[in-house]
Amino acid sequence: MKFSAKKVSTQKSNQACTVIATPSDVKALPAQTKKALSDAGIDLKHLYSQEEFTGKAGQVLTVPAANPKAGKLLLLGMGESKKLDVTTFRKSIKALTTALKKAKDKSITLMVDALELSDADTEQKARITAETFEHSRYQFDTTKSTKQKAVNASVTYISDNTKAANKGLTIGQATGEGMNIARELGNLPGNVCTPKYLSKQAKKLASSSKAVSTQILSEKQMKALGMGSLLSVSAGSVEEAQLIVMHYNGAAKSTKPHVIVGKGITFDTGGISLKPGGAMDEMKFDMCGAASVFGTMHTLTRLLPKINVVAIVAAAENMPSGIATKPGDVVTSMSGQTIEVLNTDAEGRLVLCDALTYAERFKPKSVVDIATLTGACVVALGSHATGLFSNDDELAASLLEAGQTAGDKAWHMPLWDEYQKQLDSNFADIANIGGREAGSVTAACFLSRFTKKYKWAHLDIAGTAWLHGGAKGATGRPVPLLTEYLLNHSA
Ligand code: BES
Ligand code: MN
Ligand code: ZN
Repeated sequence: MKFSAKKVSTQKSNQACTVIATPSDVKALPAQTKKALSDAGIDLKHLYSQEEFTGKAGQVLTVPAANPKAGKLLLLGMGESKKLDVTTFRKSIKALTTALKKAKDKSITLMVDALELSDADTEQKARITAETFEHSRYQFDTTKSTKQKAVNASVTYISDNTKAANKGLTIGQATGEGMNIARELGNLPGNVCTPKYLSKQAKKLASSSKAVSTQILSEKQMKALGMGSLLSVSAGSVEEAQLIVMHYNGAAKSTKPHVIVGKGITFDTGGISLKPGGAMDEMKFDMCGAASVFGTMHTLTRLLPKINVVAIVAAAENMPSGIATKPGDVVTSMSGQTIEVLNTDAEGRLVLCDALTYAERFKPKSVVDIATLTGACVVALGSHATGLFSNDDELAASLLEAGQTAGDKAWHMPLWDEYQKQLDSNFADIANIGGREAGSVTAACFLSRFTKKYKWAHLDIAGTAWLHGGAKGATGRPVPLLTEYLLNHSA
């Protein structure tokens, strides 16, 4: 997809489609919108009075071309202008992309910037638009025998402030691309997307961008480092675990990096503590934290912000077998702390703790891990918000704000000491589960035992990383949140 900002519409071809955003209150029409409508011979007041299209947020009306040479026109409802905010704008643009999907127009002119939002400027509007359009392009067909042909549309964004609009379009497109990369990795089945497959993606990224280098640790190397916890998860699988480290270098070498760590369980059967069969296929999405790390790294290579980022992916497959880890087994983590594995299905924390200890060597400014960690988080927050836990309130605030701005919300959960004793073990320094109560909190408490040396936050994306049912598929979250967060911390 190609995005560009222009001051006025010059499109006149019969392939073209022009979109005019209209609020439900005719009185509030901006002058530019009024002119565009009258040029197109549309009397909005009259149209609204017929009640088929009334400008409700997300409503789309296609006005067919009057003659073969003229392009077609789409009206996009934006709702009451007084109530127009980022959320409504996002929802309307999303509805527009859904309507346009079937049409396959090659060139699209958007007149949506004239409407004022209470909480966003032109850059933000352009960013939402490009991200939503890019996101709508993605369709999974990698493991289908018939492939969909993607239409490579060019999108012209009409705005008085082309500088701000172009900036927003660039960021939005890069974010959308990053999300689609995360979605593709998430959607790939477990027999394709293995730990080694993820390593290959890291090498690909490094060879396609000068700003990225990568280093992959084998099980042998992890063993030498004492990563007994991570290795206890892959013990039952024929797929070798991989610790994937990617460096994005956008600032001076001496600049301390921000570290992002992704849970990359390419399939989670639960291990010996085997999961029930229903919907177990969805555990191929248990590497969506890792996928969001890859997506975010891609976005960085497109935007080249002045920041250093280290991305770590802890990739493993959790399988039962004759040599798998058993409930009651005690393993020693890289930190030296011993762990009683009371439930082999609480494996995410076991791979993350060693990756988090490994992160210490980068003397990080901050460390954020992203993980489909607990079913309990889905119970607590559902699919709208990612669970956020942190040992640093400033870092938490910065991530919450980034999620809010990016339309990829997180919610701050407690990490109080009171919960820590649920992890007591009679046979090791710490147990890997904390009982029935507050499951997402005790999982975060477990991780907190390994993150005392730096500012750390944990994003539990178990509810936000993928959709179920007919729309089953990875969402690409929290790439927008992570991108916003990292851009905010770049020079
Ligand atoms: N990957 C799962 C968490 C999960 C479950 C995410 C369902 C999304 C939907 C994780 O490895 C897991 O199995 N967690 C257990 C922890 C429990 C054994 C303490 C869970 O949530 O049941
Ligand atoms: Mn599990
Ligand atoms: Zn898991």
